[in-house]
Order: sequence, then C-alpha cells, then structure tokens
Amino acid sequence: MNDFVRIVEVGPRDGLQNEKQLIATADKIELINRLSATGLRSIEATSFVSPKWVPQLADAADVFTGIQRRPGVSYPVLVPNEQGYERALAVGVEEVAVFTAASEQFNLKNTNAGIDESMRRFAPILTRAQADGIKVRGYVSTVLGCPYQGEVPVAEVVRVARQLHAMGCYEVSLGDTIGAGTPRKAAAMLRAVAAAVPMAALAVHFHDTYGQALANIASCLEEGVRVVDAAVAGTGGCPYARGASGNVASEDVVYMLHGMGMVTGVDLPALAATGRWLSERLGRDTGSKTGKALAAT
Ligand code: HMG
Ligand code: MG
Repeated sequence: MNDFVRIVEVGPRDGLQNEKQLIATADKIELINRLSATGLRSIEATSFVSPKWVPQLADAADVFTGIQRRPGVSYPVLVPNEQGYERALAVGVEEVAVFTAASEQFNLKNTNAGIDESMRRFAPILTRAQADGIKVRGYVSTVLGCPYQGEVPVAEVVRVARQLHAMGCYEVSLGDTIGAGTPRKAAAMLRAVAAAVPMAALAVHFHDTYGQALANIASCLEEGVRVVDAAVAGTGGCPYARGASGNVASEDVVYMLHGMGMVTGVDLPALAATGRWLSERLGRDTGSKTGKALAAT
C-alpha cells in the first residue's frame, strides 16, 4: 500500500466541543493556525450549532473569522440546519458538514430530530450549497453501535450513507461515535457501505473508547478507504454520546500510515508539537502515544 491518505483533522471541532473548561477563542484560533502549518489538507474548524446545545463552540464565527486560511487547506464546519448554514455562509465558509446517525435514538438526543427529519433539514442546505458553490460533507454517527439502542443494523448505516451521498454530499464519514467497533466488524460495515457509495467518497471516523481505533483504521485501509478523521492529541467526544471518549489521535494515525509506507503530506514532528502545545493549554497529558514518544526522543 503506497497511497495518499487524507487526514481530516477534527480536533478543533470534535476535540474541543465536549471540553469542560472554556477554551479561549484566541487559543482555538492558534490551534487551527498551527495545524494549518503541518501539511494537513482538511481541518474541521468549528460548529455552527445551537450554542445552547454546545456552549463550547458558541464562538464559532469569531474563530472562523480569526484564523489565517491557507491556500490548499479546507476548513469545513458543522451545520445542523439552515440557520447554521446561514451563519457559516455569513463568515465566508467554503465547506460545511451535515450530520445524522444510523440510530434513531442517538439522532434524537444529538439533534432533537429523527433520521428522516434530519434529512429534511439537510435538503435545502444541499440545494443552496450547490448554488453557492459550497462543498458538503456528510456524517453518519453510531455506525458500529449506539449508546441508547445498542446494536445498529449495517443495513441502516448503508441506507443513511447512500441517502447523504445521493443528496449531494461529496464525502460521507462513517462515525464510530462510541468507539465500540472492532476490526472485522468495522471492515464488514465499510464493505457493505462501499457497495452502495463509492469507496473514494467514504471516510472513517473512529473514537478510541475501547482502544480499537488504530486497529479499526488499519482494517478499513485494507478495504480501500483513503480518508481518515482524527483529532490532534486524541481530544474529544460527543456531548450527546454517553461514555464516548477521545477521537483517535492524529499523530498516532500519521505515525502508523507513514510506517505502512503511505503518504499523508503531514509533518509528524510539527503535528506532535501542536498536540503537546494543545495539551499544555488544556492542562493535561496528550492523549497521543506518538506525541508522548516523540517528546521523549
Ligand atoms: P432545537 O432546540 O430542536 O432547535 O435544536 P430549534 O430549531 O427548536 O431552535 C431552538 C433555539 O436554538 C432557537 O433559539 C434557535 O434560534 C436556536 P431561541 O429562539 O430559543 O433563542 N438555534 C440555533 N442557534 C444557532 N445556530 C444554529 C441554531 N439552530 C437553532 N444552527 C439543533 C436542534 C439541531 C439546533 C440542536 O440539537 C443542535 O444544535 N445540536 C447539535 C449537537 C452537536 O453539535 N453535537 C455534536 C456534533 S455531532 C458529533 O460529534 C458526531 C461526529 O463527530 C461523528 C461521530 O463521532 O459519530 C460528527
Ligand atoms: Mg466524532
């Protein structure tokens, strides 16, 4: 395997959205600017969701207008509805991400809407985005288990992913929100989705709750996926997913990929230094083993 893998860095959004301490807007801006200098091509910057639901990202507009956007880097933001889309458009966002789930119960807790209702909310966003020249990414959460419903049928994952792609999402990210997946299950789920949506339009998004994220990613790479979501320093967790711990750490993913002979374009020492900087700002150890190891050398 000697391929390019695009890392979608979700630290500034997924990493920080559930953080208990309030993080200064200036620190969020500095984080994104530092990440922009590491060679990453996609950095999810923030969310234009309801500030009542996710207070940590209430400063989305200030963060987005404060960053230095590098040519060649995309800065997608989450939008749950048209109101979020309009807020994003007002500050010059060029890519948005809509999000739903393969589990009805999770989607209700996360967005106060069932799956079909969330699709109805996305339809006008996708229509407008096409006219506005805005790229739209789609997320499917709970692809390998739900904190409320337990098992999630793969057929539901396929149905929701297919629908997002058919509505115009250029890429669909498959989220193991609670990190419950294991490698064979993850590969089987991806294979099933790839029979309905081209592999080139799929991404994987693993949380590391049970320490399975890297193994799951490795097995999905074998299936052919070439876009991997990850968060620097392994921060993160969804506020509406009980027990969901951090995302897989970007540094660990990049170390593994480079070791496999794959190309990411990411400067690993610079990424690891950014992870350590963030961990210092958060007042705790980095959640990245690679980040720790590189600090010790
Ligand atoms: P709702 O309360 O049903 O919304 O929330 P509503 O339309 O009834 O509006 C209620 C209030 O919210 C109103 O204000 C609206 O103006 C306001 P009020 O009149 O009461 O003052 N509002 C907004 N304000 C700013 N921006 C907006 C917006 N929309 C409404 N866009 C809603 C529905 C979807 C808005 C809410 O549930 C929400 O924001 N949910 C987002 C939750 C979230 O961000 N979760 C984490 C991201 S998903 C994730 O982490 C998973 C992922 O990483 C993949 C994986 O790991 O699986 C992507
Ligand atoms: Mg997530």
